[in-house]
Amino acid sequence: PPLDEILNLHDFEAIARAVMPEKGWAYYSSAADDEITHRENHLAYHRIWFRPRILRDVTAVDWSTTILGQKSSMPVYITATALGKLGHPDGELNLTRAAGKAGVIQMIPTLASCSFDELVDAALEGQTQFMQLYVNKDRAITKRIVQHAEKRGIKGLFITVDAPQLGRREKDMRMKFEDAGSAVQREAGEEVNKNEGAARAISSFIDPGLCWKDIPWFQSITKMPIILKGVQCWEDAVMAAEAGLQGVVLSNHGGRQLDFARSGIEILVEVVSALRERNLFPNPNFQLFVDGGVRRATDVLKAVALGATAVGIGRPFIYSYSAYGQDGVERAIRILNDEFEMNMRLIGAPTIKDVVPSMVDASSIGIH
Ligand code: FNR
Repeated sequence: PPLDEILNLHDFEAIARAVMPEKGWAYYSSAADDEITHRENHLAYHRIWFRPRILRDVTAVDWSTTILGQKSSMPVYITATALGKLGHPDGELNLTRAAGKAGVIQMIPTLASCSFDELVDAALEGQTQFMQLYVNKDRAITKRIVQHAEKRGIKGLFITVDAPQLGRREKDMRMKFEDAGSAVQREAGEEVNKNEGAARAISSFIDPGLCWKDIPWFQSITKMPIILKGVQCWEDAVMAAEAGLQGVVLSNHGGRQLDFARSGIEILVEVVSALRERNLFPNPNFQLFVDGGVRRATDVLKAVALGATAVGIGRPFIYSYSAYGQDGVERAIRILNDEFEMNMRLIGAPTIKDVVPSMVDASSIGIH
């Protein structure tokens, strides 16, 4: 169907499934084990309701915000998803270009199909990019990647901490891959196992030995803000704040790692309350992010009301370019903008600062 008949982010999924290469669909759509967490990620938002305010002047509404000190046109960033060329020959470049035009921040994955420099070179003057880091066992490789990212102007380093081993994604495992390696692996001359699906073919780039003791080392090799991606309980969020990190992403990796992990939005509630008790929240120097299952601006507004600075969206953007290339991503962003404008008016919030906890009823996930 023509792009203007796409009315919401869910629509891209059905079309991508019909038109994209089967292997790409298997890798992008798959999740761990019985995919319970994957389904729960979006369903969790169904348990939260709005408490809109009335008679506020909402003639002009503004949903722009600041993420890690960087301007963003919305409280949403494009999160890291590996192997972009499984969906479209231009891979992650589709995201970079659309994000630049729309003032949205893109998080570049370590295991992108396009090379890191290609994605940075494609950015417009002043366009903000973050980087997602998988930590290699060989710390010299990791150090080189991190310092190169900083030199190229990356504004935030998101270290993935929920993948000491890759999850079991059976849809993906049923596929055999000839060329699933990422650009960074090709540069490192790494052998890629071609017989186990895309996820397992890239698993050489993770270190199960990664631990809290490594954090000071990261802080010593870069001045970029460091955020842990994949925190799942308040205890670890408090440890991250106390370690002097700049934030955490409450995330279960899109349901692709531990099945029966909780949704990010549910974790957010307990994290905010634990941080508040310790006077660690609100704190502009320690920001909370959520990802997984976000498909509507209303989902985003719920997370923001409950204390998130911004949310990451993954699959809808990769489906949008798998089906329509860069135009699809631009359309996805436009749909979100339209949804923000309308729903900010309907909840009575002229700016993001007006989206406060009392605007949601989250009693069913722990707020009373
Ligand atoms: C991911 N995600 C991910 N995360 C990460 O830290 N490094 C990575 O390389 C990848 N790769 C990846 C590939 C694909 C195909 C998907 C779907 C996801 C996880 C991603 O950053 C994010 O946590 C989820 O995608 C969020 O859930 P939604 O928005 O896809 O539902």
